[in-house]
Amino acid sequence: MADHVPVTKAVVPAAGLGTRFLPATKATPKEMLPIVDKPAIQYVVEEAVSAGLDDILLITGRGKRPIEDHFDRAYELEEALRAKEDPERLGSVRESAELADVHYVRQGEPKGLGHAVYCARRHVGDEPFAVLLGDDLIDERDALLQRMLEVRETYGGSVVALMEVEPEQVSLYGCAAIEPTDEDDVVRVTDLVEKPVPGEAPSRWIIIGRYVCDPAVFDVLEKTPPGRGGEIQLTDALLTLAKRDRSEGGPVHGVLFRGRRYDTGNKLDYLRTVVQFAADRPELADEFLPWLREFVAKHDEAGR
Ligand code: UTP
Repeated sequence: MADHVPVTKAVVPAAGLGTRFLPATKATPKEMLPIVDKPAIQYVVEEAVSAGLDDILLITGRGKRPIEDHFDRAYELEEALRAKEDPERLGSVRESAELADVHYVRQGEPKGLGHAVYCARRHVGDEPFAVLLGDDLIDERDALLQRMLEVRETYGGSVVALMEVEPEQVSLYGCAAIEPTDEDDVVRVTDLVEKPVPGEAPSRWIIIGRYVCDPAVFDVLEKTPPGRGGEIQLTDALLTLAKRDRSEGGPVHGVLFRGRRYDTGNKLDYLRTVVQFAADRPELADEFLPWLREFVAKHDEAGR
């Protein structure tokens, strides 16, 4: 039984088509779009590493080679920066290659998040593992993944991250029916509904892109038929586990996350993310924020 095995591996699915970001994502993975000066996926790998998980399996696919290059050494570039005596930039180029022990598996066909996670089966084996979506960022000041690992340690089974949204937003996401536990920020998940019809959502708590999965999820995914949009949904497999007890790979708990999350997979949220990250960088904020204020004021004045 994998119940007391510690979590050491993180799986980062990054094989989606990124259609909401076309045409930028025609030849560039959306996970490589920069948030100020680092690609989104580097923040995600850094988050896994700071939670103690430095064995990273990236699920990639066609057109995702730039991701592999980013986490690899770049000798020519490094030589050029060394010759220019630019240690700071040299450090930033080497950093992503030295961050973690990064492995790759290709999904072949983007048949959904559940299928992407299933592709990790051989690498992960019979151990619990974390899943971090490559386009979903959690602020480094909010230790969500660490908390989820603690919850797995205490309750076994799988753990999802839940965020509360406005009622009109719930139908855009996977939503959880929940029951309280003795801990304020932990709930038992009793049902999961993918994109509920407005008015029929069991709560305002939606699933965001962090999971800790019991390895039992692989057997369930193997038998999970394609759901919405012909894709194999991770949520469907987790729902099966939510109905089971600990001896069969269940249950599913949720960590109620009240921190800062940034979605980078659609245009509007991407823009918001870039502005917020820039505002947190002192070397940029001193000039950027006064410019932004002036830009908005002028824009309003012009009535546009
Ligand atoms: P999204 O739901 O954002 O899908 O996937 P997408 O296909 O990438 O983007 P759109 O909706 O077409 O714009 C959430 C995460 O799961 C990965 C994506 O790369 C993203 O990080 N994913 C999704 C896969 O790895 N494989 C899939 O088949 C689907």
